[in-house]
Amino acid sequence: MQVAETISSVRKAVKAAHRRSKTIGFVPTMGALHVGHLSLIEAAKKDCDYVIVSIFVNPTQFGPGEDFQKYPRPLEKDLDMCRKAGVDLVFAPAPAEMYKSGNITWVTVEKLTDPLCGRSRPGHFRGVTTVCAKLFNIVGPDLAYFGQKDAQQAIVIRRMVEDLNMPLQIVICPTAREPDGLAVSSRNKYLNADQRKDAAALYRSLEKCRRMVEAGTTDTAALAAEMRKTLGEFPAIEIEYLSIVDAETLEDTDRIAGRALVALAARLGPARLIDNIIVEA
Ligand code: PAF
Repeated sequence: MQVAETISSVRKAVKAAHRRSKTIGFVPTMGALHVGHLSLIEAAKKDCDYVIVSIFVNPTQFGPGEDFQKYPRPLEKDLDMCRKAGVDLVFAPAPAEMYKSGNITWVTVEKLTDPLCGRSRPGHFRGVTTVCAKLFNIVGPDLAYFGQKDAQQAIVIRRMVEDLNMPLQIVICPTAREPDGLAVSSRNKYLNADQRKDAAALYRSLEKCRRMVEAGTTDTAALAAEMRKTLGEFPAIEIEYLSIVDAETLEDTDRIAGRALVALAARLGPARLIDNIIVEA
């Protein structure tokens, strides 16, 4: 496995892979890899001949007071996991390599970035789309893999790729979950034992919503109220948002008709956790 720290060395490796007619699969990450990332790598390996993982804690997607400084950076462990997973190349640049002369050029997707996480994390998606556009320009992948856990991110990136005619396909893979249903996340490390136990209620509330939709409830206010009741049993869980929106446009809807995204963000002690499911009526 090659480890590249510079843009020029990635471009050289990708050029060589293209010359050998390899399909390039790309998994962008911020490191602290877990089984969720491994499932993206596995999907990329199934579809593609040459798999690239980027490990870069992107400063421009963190707001003031967020966890940029303390975000885990276990690079050696991450490299080891990539090696074992059969990754061909890891791109692990320093911030100065990615943002050489600061940054005055941004990629912004409108509308889709306003609701849900966009409301409480102003500038977050601008940082994500800008770094992904840069990474796509550097790596030149045929396919790029994102997790359903970050549903809004995946939808925003897919739209950026479509609107800017970027020549790649975005593949969205299912959320990896712990045995009790908690979505696997690098930020789960911030939870103490009690908070970790309570965190499973997030998925339980989503599953309750799924069961109610399957039983015929489509009124989103009624569904949200039941979810809030489940989460209300855990005083340590502070709900940031709990929304049921159209799965494509992310617009609010009073009644589910078609595919809807049930998404929530909550604070549990030092951790901000997000999760979602898709339901259909
Ligand atoms: O999902 C993430 O880990 C990040 O937002 C991404 C896509 C790697 C961009 O920094």
